[in-house]
Amino acid sequence: MTIDDVKIVELPKITDPRGNLSFIEQLNHIPFEIKRTYWIYDVPGGENRGGHAFKKNEEFIVALSGAFDVIVDDGGQKKVFTLNRSYYGLYVPAGLWREMDNFSTNSLALEFGSIHYDETDYIRDYVLFLKMKHNGEI
Ligand code: TYD
Repeated sequence: MTIDDVKIVELPKITDPRGNLSFIEQLNHIPFEIKRTYWIYDVPGGENRGGHAFKKNEEFIVALSGAFDVIVDDGGQKKVFTLNRSYYGLYVPAGLWREMDNFSTNSLALEFGSIHYDETDYIRDYVLFLKMKHNGEI
């Protein structure tokens, strides 16, 4: 996988004078079956999250509120995706290093995963990530 496999997905937006509505369907807007949903909130100013890669887990990230950056790195190239609208999502395949930073006050990051939580799926050491990428192990 490379950063070219990371995709911004525009979600449906039903505009309405009473308030807008968006939605997400698995295997439609999200290209995998959702096994897990979690969210990140109350991030103090200047903090960053998610410095790791996954061996198998695919992700879909939405800025439900506020804004933040997702930095994706395939071991060769890095790209920054700014999420700041609740009707856009970012698909991040497995095998890529990713970090999140620049969280705005009261931002809310909603994340969907393709597998249940499994610490053995994480690669938390960047040097190990580069090595595994180089060897074609991820
Ligand atoms: P982690 O994925 O490292 O957070 P981030 O990528 O946002 O920096 O998870 C932080 C902690 O939360 C870690 O101890 C594992 C735990 N955790 C779960 O128990 N279940 C989950 O679904 C997730 C995402 C994390």
